[in-house]
Amino acid sequence: MTARKIIIDTDPGQDDAVALLLAMASPELDILGITVVAGNVPLALTEVNTRKVCELAGRSDIPVYAGCDAPLERPLVTAEHVHGKTGLDGADLPEPTMRLQDRHAVDFIIDTIRNSDPGQITLCPLGPLTNIAEALTRAPDITAKIAEIVLMGGGYFEQGNITPSAEFNIYVDPEAAKIVFGAGVKLTVIPLDCTHKALTNPARVKAFRVLGTPVGDAVAGLTDFFERFDKEKYGSVGAPLHDPCVIAYLLQPDLFQGRFINVEIETASQLTLGSTVADWWRVSGRKPNATFIRDIDDEGFFTLLTERLGRL
Ligand code: BDR
Ligand code: CA
Repeated sequence: MTARKIIIDTDPGQDDAVALLLAMASPELDILGITVVAGNVPLALTEVNTRKVCELAGRSDIPVYAGCDAPLERPLVTAEHVHGKTGLDGADLPEPTMRLQDRHAVDFIIDTIRNSDPGQITLCPLGPLTNIAEALTRAPDITAKIAEIVLMGGGYFEQGNITPSAEFNIYVDPEAAKIVFGAGVKLTVIPLDCTHKALTNPARVKAFRVLGTPVGDAVAGLTDFFERFDKEKYGSVGAPLHDPCVIAYLLQPDLFQGRFINVEIETASQLTLGSTVADWWRVSGRKPNATFIRDIDDEGFFTLLTERLGRL
């Protein structure tokens, strides 16, 4: 088996952390590097959090690069009200000792794709799309070489979570999202319509804890913390594990269902800024540019996740 080469772009965030752990537990994936962006919390925290998670998994060999500390054209909006002050509240992970790479994340993305054969590298953005858009803008020649972008962001039937009509990752940097969605790269979008069906519940969190490992305990602690906000907001039994869905899609795409449709990003309206205008019903006549995922086999997803976390 040749492992699929990926670059994960992330803003940990409890669900980002679980996504990183799932990827690091999976031999089907070759993580070339992890690039970090400002999002859930400022960059100074997201990059430290990423290194903490690498060390938790025993993967301090994976290079971590810090990227953009603010969206392309707007001030940063963060989500401490969801993720806590550190971004990783719920797990008490030690300060990392592995070093942060000197190179900027955007340079790493550009150079790595430029030096690869076409169709070799998949990008997995789990946060605002600033680093990815910056790379595509500065080096348009890499566009044709990217195998695929599989990202968490947006929502159509579920609309938004940070505003009534926008999902957090797209809302934070809508100009970046517009660039990525318009780039002509093979694009798979995992929106709230999918992730809101991947809910934790007491039995699923218990299964993490029952692993009896530092990773299992950390993931249970992180999900315990992360759940409280969504349970209160939605009256649900648990919280959506948004970002791990991206990694699960790479590992087991048959768990997911969606449609190849046109998706555009709203960047002008004050009221609906950052909304993903998904032409699910194919009424616009606009050219399809994304596979927009709506459904997930949630049992299959949690079985995969728990089994993989158990390997760490
Ligand atoms: C997305 O926003 C962040 O809060 C999560 O990490 C996820 O990437 C969900 O809207
Ligand atoms: Ca995220």
